[in-house]
Amino acid sequence: MSADNIVTETLMVQADEPMMDTFDLVFLLTAGVMAILYLYKETLFGNNKIVTPQQPISTPLPKPVTPPKKDRDFLKKMRETDKNVILFYGSQTGTAEDYASRLAKEGQQRFGLKTMTIDIEDCNMALLDKFPEDCIAFFLMATYGEGEPTDDAVDFWELITSDSPEFSDGAPIEDKPLSSFRYVVFALGNKTYEHFNAVGRTVDAKLTEFGATRIGERGEGDDDGSLEEDFLGWKEDMWKAVCEIMQVDQSGVEAGGHVAAYKISELDADDSEKVYYGEYNEHALMTNGIRPTYDAKNPYISPIVATRELFNPNLIDRNCIHMELDITGSGIDYETGDHVAVWPMNAEQNVERLLKILGLWEKRDTIITVESIDPSATKKYPFPVPTTYATIFRNYLDIHAPISRQSIATLANFAPTEEGKSKLSNLGSDKEVYRVEVSDAYLSLGELLESISPNGKPLDSVPLDFIIETLPRLQPRYYSISSSSKSTPKTIHITATVLSFNPTTTPHRKVYGLATNYLLQINRKLRNVHHPETLPSYSYSGPRNKYHDEGSNLIKLPIHVRHTNFKLPKNSKTPVVMVGPGTGVAPFRGFVIERTLSKAQGEEVGETILFFGCRRRDEDFLYENEFAELFATLGERGKLITAFSREQAHKVYVQHKLNENSSHLWNLIHNLGGYFYVCGDAKSMARDVNTSLIQIAQSCGGMDEVRATNYVKDLRSKGRYQEDVWS
Ligand SMILES: Cc1cc2nc3c(=O)[nH]c(=O)nc-3n(C[C@H](O)[C@H](O)[C@H](O)COP(=O)(O)OP(=O)(O)OC[C@H]3O[C@@H](n4cnc5c(N)ncnc54)[C@H](O)[C@@H]3O)c2cc1C
Ligand SMILES: Cc1cc2nc3c(=O)[nH]c(=O)nc-3n(C[C@H](O)[C@H](O)[C@H](O)COP(=O)(O)O)c2cc1C
Ligand SMILES: *[C@@H]1O[C@H](CO)[C@@H](O)[C@H](O)[C@H]1NC(C)=O
Ligand SMILES: *[C@@H]1O[C@H](CO)[C@@H](O)[C@H](O)[C@H]1NC(C)=O
Ligand SMILES: *[C@@H]1O[C@H](CO)[C@@H](O)[C@H](O)[C@H]1NC(C)=O
Repeated sequence: MSADNIVTETLMVQADEPMMDTFDLVFLLTAGVMAILYLYKETLFGNNKIVTPQQPISTPLPKPVTPPKKDRDFLKKMRETDKNVILFYGSQTGTAEDYASRLAKEGQQRFGLKTMTIDIEDCNMALLDKFPEDCIAFFLMATYGEGEPTDDAVDFWELITSDSPEFSDGAPIEDKPLSSFRYVVFALGNKTYEHFNAVGRTVDAKLTEFGATRIGERGEGDDDGSLEEDFLGWKEDMWKAVCEIMQVDQSGVEAGGHVAAYKISELDADDSEKVYYGEYNEHALMTNGIRPTYDAKNPYISPIVATRELFNPNLIDRNCIHMELDITGSGIDYETGDHVAVWPMNAEQNVERLLKILGLWEKRDTIITVESIDPSATKKYPFPVPTTYATIFRNYLDIHAPISRQSIATLANFAPTEEGKSKLSNLGSDKEVYRVEVSDAYLSLGELLESISPNGKPLDSVPLDFIIETLPRLQPRYYSISSSSKSTPKTIHITATVLSFNPTTTPHRKVYGLATNYLLQINRKLRNVHHPETLPSYSYSGPRNKYHDEGSNLIKLPIHVRHTNFKLPKNSKTPVVMVGPGTGVAPFRGFVIERTLSKAQGEEVGETILFFGCRRRDEDFLYENEFAELFATLGERGKLITAFSREQAHKVYVQHKLNENSSHLWNLIHNLGGYFYVCGDAKSMARDVNTSLIQIAQSCGGMDEVRATNYVKDLRSKGRYQEDVWS
């Protein structure tokens, strides 16, 4: 049978019975190691005709263009722009950056401080020993992974945590090189992680160790509780301390007042080739044929070459999407266990709602430019410009982001009526009302604005610059790649559970997760699935029809890859134990495929155990048939152990299954040097699995609790207990 036959037959099955795995038929018709090898061969997947990808042009790849290195002398920048307060931020998803901007603005408006914010990545932090005595610095630092810094703070982290940190004068650390340096610190983290606020705390401890003086208390924000409340609660005392040190008092503009941060100008449509319609980077507008580097700043527009639903749609109305993306010719490399970021766009209904309520609907396609008023702002433009009103709300701003109490208080100033004003003031000051009506209701800014508009009329009084300042930029969403780079080096697979829910405080309203509903609707569109639920809908064509041509059966998605340390052991003989309930199974699909390939290539493959859990076998068992075949190929040494939580009266989860198999697992890990992996829900699951393993070390390894805990910690530090967890 030729590859084409397989694909065609699979397709037919898919069209008739969407609940069936693409692989089912293939596996029914083929067997054995060679078939598996063959199945996962790139050629087959690369040419998968579920949708017809445009054939990538295979010209030799020119050298990637690298941007010029920035001047990282922040002291010079402070001098040139006459600043006395600098706010460094280390931020992954923009929260720390946002808080830095808010503090900068407040410091300027309330106290007349001359502030600037800057990404810590853009600073040569070894210059801290030359920091002027009459200035102060703020650090807003988020924590990731296992107490690790954000990507942009890695250099700074290495500097301060090194064994012999060296500042620009080269003075030994014992001489306290930072003794004239004064700083404020606010740590951003999430208490459910073990290393809560590790980065903010370490920065604080190290700076003090190097002789610097902290002003006020260290702020600690807990994203799991209320980061915003922690921030608001902390900053008033902090400002008091800062005012004392800087010898300023609370003059200037009242708190809550508004001074525009951005200037917005409408342009005459001239050079429309230079207008950004949702592109993220100048390279995307270039037509010189040079292939740019595709990375986190310049996503690759990748063709979707296959997509299907993984849950049984006849039994449940939840959805999980499997999607395959072609990276041929992009220069992007990935490895099994890496993450792929998907850049979503906002749903049209919500873009329209916001444009209308702000009175911008009629001129939504007008070309505008938006720039910072403060000439020393780190970012001159908040997003690519020139662009249009509609594009800002569709592609560049996260119009569903939670609205802070402080923003609502400011918004009250622009309310069109006294009634609206008092409603917003109340929301802005009463924590409980705010929680029920805004926070737990997942109320969007558009909905909030509608609620204060008399007869739904546009609110001309709300300045767009305030909206731009208030809404964070739209961020990509990360997914654990579910394919193996050894079997499909040019195709990246995603396994995404679609999020939609009725908020507890407003149960009649449905809230849709941004990226996953985009994927769901693309999946339906490509497969011609007619579903009664057509909302949310999207502008599938993308900027300049780059994502989709009306009538064609090809849709593309902007993506980039993030490399991780979540990797199989180098030696295939090493046993692996994987725990991946629900969507947490994603990277383990890649792992298991890779182990199967190793075996097919004649390598000796150690024991491979996957613990998977879901509600019921016939509803949400991801890749059931595919796993059955893969494990059959692995033979004796492959075991898929399942926990179906709802198939019996009491709930059964993966951690119960771990305990049932404790002595065997202990043997693999302790005696055979096995690796242990956990992926999925960071909160309860990952914590319970950690506890299970500690208990196993006690019951099977005869250790007391302290030793067992240290044993598991040690496994982690050796990279033999790896986690890929998210919330
Ligand atoms: C490293 C990493 C790897 C990941 N890998 C995967 C993966 O392989 N597969 C996968 O599906 N996801 C994965 N995720 C999660 C993924 O990135 C997205 O967060 C997820 O798909 C939701 O995105 P969204 O845009 O649809 O939702 P968003 O628009 O971002 O909405 C999510 C918001 O809804 C809230 N929320 C969600 N559900 C509820 C509920 N029931 N009740 C109340 N509030 C709720 C959340 O708190 C959050 O504020 C990963 C995340 C990370 C960080
Ligand atoms: C994948 C992931 C890992 C995280 N790891 C930690 C952690 O180890 N410790 C912690 O305190 N917070 C952790 N957090 C929480 C973030 O630090 C917190 O949400 C912060 O507000 C993010 O700030 P940012 O938007 O500026 O990146 C983690 C969040 C995510 C999404
Ligand atoms: C795991 O436990 C189950 C139930 O006790 C048992 O049937 C199975 O053989 C065990 N598997 C391993 C790998 O020990
Ligand atoms: C904090 O982390 C937990 C566990 O990962 C998660 O459930 C929760 O949603 C996180 N909070 C926020 C606001 O991200
Ligand atoms: C694992 O559990 C132990 C014991 O409760 C705890 O000390 C440790 O912090 C946990 N580790 C993680 C990463 O949750």
